[in-house]
Amino acid sequence: MMIQAPKGTKDIYGTEAANVRWLEDMYADVATRFGFKEIKLPTFEHTELFQRGVGDATDIVQKEMYTFLDKGGRSITLRPEGTAGVVRAYLEHGMPSEPSPMKFFYCLNNFRYERPQKGRYREFTQFGVELLGSESPLAEIEVLSFLVTYFAAIGLDEYELHINSIGCDKCRPTYHAELKKFLAAHHDELCEDCQARYETNPLRTLDCKNEKCQLVLEDAPKPADYLCDDCDIHYTHVKEGLDQIGIEFEEDPKLVRGLDYYTRTVFEFVSDGIGAQSAICGGGRYDNLVETLGGPPTPAIGFAFGLERLRLELEARGIEMPGVERPDLYILSFEDTRGPALHLAQRLRAEGLTVETDIMERSFKAQMKHANRIYAKHLLVLGSEELKADTVQVKNMASGEETEIAKAELDDYLLENY
Ligand code: HAM
Repeated sequence: MMIQAPKGTKDIYGTEAANVRWLEDMYADVATRFGFKEIKLPTFEHTELFQRGVGDATDIVQKEMYTFLDKGGRSITLRPEGTAGVVRAYLEHGMPSEPSPMKFFYCLNNFRYERPQKGRYREFTQFGVELLGSESPLAEIEVLSFLVTYFAAIGLDEYELHINSIGCDKCRPTYHAELKKFLAAHHDELCEDCQARYETNPLRTLDCKNEKCQLVLEDAPKPADYLCDDCDIHYTHVKEGLDQIGIEFEEDPKLVRGLDYYTRTVFEFVSDGIGAQSAICGGGRYDNLVETLGGPPTPAIGFAFGLERLRLELEARGIEMPGVERPDLYILSFEDTRGPALHLAQRLRAEGLTVETDIMERSFKAQMKHANRIYAKHLLVLGSEELKADTVQVKNMASGEETEIAKAELDDYLLENY
């Protein structure tokens, strides 16, 4: 039997690979303009990093991590998300003593043992940023401004930005107590998961997908109504800042996010391009995580979006992405000119042109067929006559027009006529 890729994983090739390359290049380009510097991380970390960072009670840690003992008996986990690893690296390399803010961007593959469906995989890629060291609402504006600039650069302008504030250590205990009072009073109306969340993670009941729970929780107390003065002012400034730079948003009082490290501002970009409304991006402030992982108090904020989800979104909306590169030139050769054809191809490739020539020792007719199949833009026949002459005939495959060109000027001609 043939071996297939494991469930929830994906081979990416052809047009999709070209799309992904373009999306990543554009991401790095726009992130760099905003002053974010790239960070690359190990694919696996000590399990404890995610238990402490993402939170023991989260679905990610409870149900979705790929965790195993390595040959040395250490508990290792394949990265389920990037934030905890960025903070670990920030601390490990003494970056808290460097000038703030530190601004990172990343393109990382992640692993979560989830039920695969469209836009949800067991190995997937996140593009994200983490900004460490600023407690100002301007940090929220900076990361969101970057994200909408990137979306605009790739042609995506149909989405909703949902925001909420879930408060801080000062105001959250009062809110939790109120929420638990409400949940206790409605215990029997909640689904089994929410009944368990009452003990482990009451906040997560707010975004339960069960319709009955959603109905009950409409009337539940909401975090934004219990903010302390500092959190309230912060949230107001975030909203004012977004207004000032023209980023539209919707306040979503039930938005809480699935990872434990968030404080104050949380947000999601939702869209219905790939079916039912789904989050293409999620993020928020995590002012306690650096301390939780053993560092000095350091406010921070970030987001991540699923690359595969974004690509499906663009595809569903008919937004064009560059596909596979077409060769600028195909050089047809004969038995006695295969070497010179490769030599010429090498010279033109060094000049930046995309050039293909025969490496299958095919007949003339079969080479013609191949040049058509790979959509070469120009064709050049390099026979022994052409080898001796100073000029060659170049055929434009779209118009059928043939032009005589001096060999020495071939690269200029092709660069001008791509
Ligand atoms: P998250 O909401 O768990 O947040 O994931 C962010 C995004 O990753 C989701 O909105 C979705 O687009 C994509 N994603 C998540 N799971 C899958 C999956 N199984 N298959 C495909 N795509 C998926 C985080 O991970 C946080 N670390 C974000 C963050 C960064 N917060 C602050 N900084």
